[in-house]
Amino acid sequence: MKVPKKIISSILVIAIITSTSLSYQSTNVNKTSQESIKIPKTTETNNLKSKTPQQVNVHMGYDTSTQVNISYTTIAGELETKVVLNKVGDNKKIIANGENTIGNANKYFHSIVVSNLDPNTKYEYTVGSGDNIYRGSFKTAPAKGSKNSFKFAFLSDTQVSNENNAKAAGATFSQLSKDLDFLYLAGDITDKATNETQWELVFNNEGAFPNAGQDLLGSILISAVQGNHDNNTLTRHINAPAESGSIVYSYDYGPATFIMLNLETARYDANARAYQKEYLTNAVNEAKKRDQWTFVGFHKSLYTGASHITDSDVIEARQYWAPTFAELDVDVVMQGHDHVYSRGFVTSNGYNANPASDENGSIINPKNAPLYMVGGHAGALKWYSKKNYTVGANDPLAPGYSFLDVNSADTGSDVKKEQVIVEFEVSENDLSVNTYMMKYDTEIDSITTDKYLYDSFSVTKDK
Ligand SMILES: [Fe+2]
Ligand SMILES: [Fe+2]
Repeated sequence: MKVPKKIISSILVIAIITSTSLSYQSTNVNKTSQESIKIPKTTETNNLKSKTPQQVNVHMGYDTSTQVNISYTTIAGELETKVVLNKVGDNKKIIANGENTIGNANKYFHSIVVSNLDPNTKYEYTVGSGDNIYRGSFKTAPAKGSKNSFKFAFLSDTQVSNENNAKAAGATFSQLSKDLDFLYLAGDITDKATNETQWELVFNNEGAFPNAGQDLLGSILISAVQGNHDNNTLTRHINAPAESGSIVYSYDYGPATFIMLNLETARYDANARAYQKEYLTNAVNEAKKRDQWTFVGFHKSLYTGASHITDSDVIEARQYWAPTFAELDVDVVMQGHDHVYSRGFVTSNGYNANPASDENGSIINPKNAPLYMVGGHAGALKWYSKKNYTVGANDPLAPGYSFLDVNSADTGSDVKKEQVIVEFEVSENDLSVNTYMMKYDTEIDSITTDKYLYDSFSVTKDK
């Protein structure tokens, strides 16, 4: 899809637009218009005392079927932190209050925990007041025990650092399927988490796909993990639960349990690592009793198709975690960090399990060999390539990336420099995965390759 160009009519118009209504008329700001028209760096710098909620998002709460955590920022202080909600189609209003504190760039960071919601219910909500409001929506998770199928997207490493890759992230956001139940973000949301301009760009995408980030993240339930570029500032913007340390949590969603680990904190703290292992073990064992699929999420890939495979901290994490995931018989491990799309069923010693397929071509889920996936790159900052490596002693790793079945870095001398969207459909007995790629070319500020299906496969429970 070549997005049609429209011309931004006047510098003056942009200058006087408030942040509430700021959305460029263009989905494709080309080089000429960038050069001739000074695009404002950020929404907020144009309106230093904005009362309008920005960077609004809705994260899963402790009990995902009844609780959500809403976060946003304002430039102006002394504002009430409040959300007004109603079920879609029901005018009865629910009000929840929260707290705000001042933080980076003198912004006020607002956080609200909304509890006692109904499961599997779509809500619409408003934050802010008067003319300075943001309207969004979300759907709570099904009640525990539900076996209904669901669909989620897995995006990795938007890693927004500047206007160009913010537009690429916006392009990616705009191409997600519209029928998702939630969105999983595998870390590295910005390149430098203390840089507020980068957070603003994640949500406003420099106007290239008008506020695709805000439209998406304010209107879908999200689940995030912490990447190495996120550091603790992530929790100011995105309020994830902390059940066994910061951003370590799990949730039931229909016929699956998701366990989110924080390998960033586990990396530096042996106690944190041990707590997370115990937490993981309990959560997986409980899920197995309920015959659920088990997904584990964290940022730095243990098994990947690109060059971080031999980083010393990755080797160390692989030695610690990979045998545990195999022993617990985790089904899927969702990873990021390496800006590559790859997948493979990996045994406890790091080899490809080579699982059989059934008569319909669906892979029969192998025992004790989790499906390790790396979710690619949802921005345009960088792509890593393969490297030759030698397997060290006691490293559960096969040589030459032979543990993988698909690797987007396997394109000769150049890696596939495209944006990636992974979408899962999860039902009681089957996982169906469709991975899409697309190309947003930051040189010419356009989608030059439409979203297309890059990888498609299904996995069936081995009954
Ligand atoms: Fe990254
Ligand atoms: Fe990373």
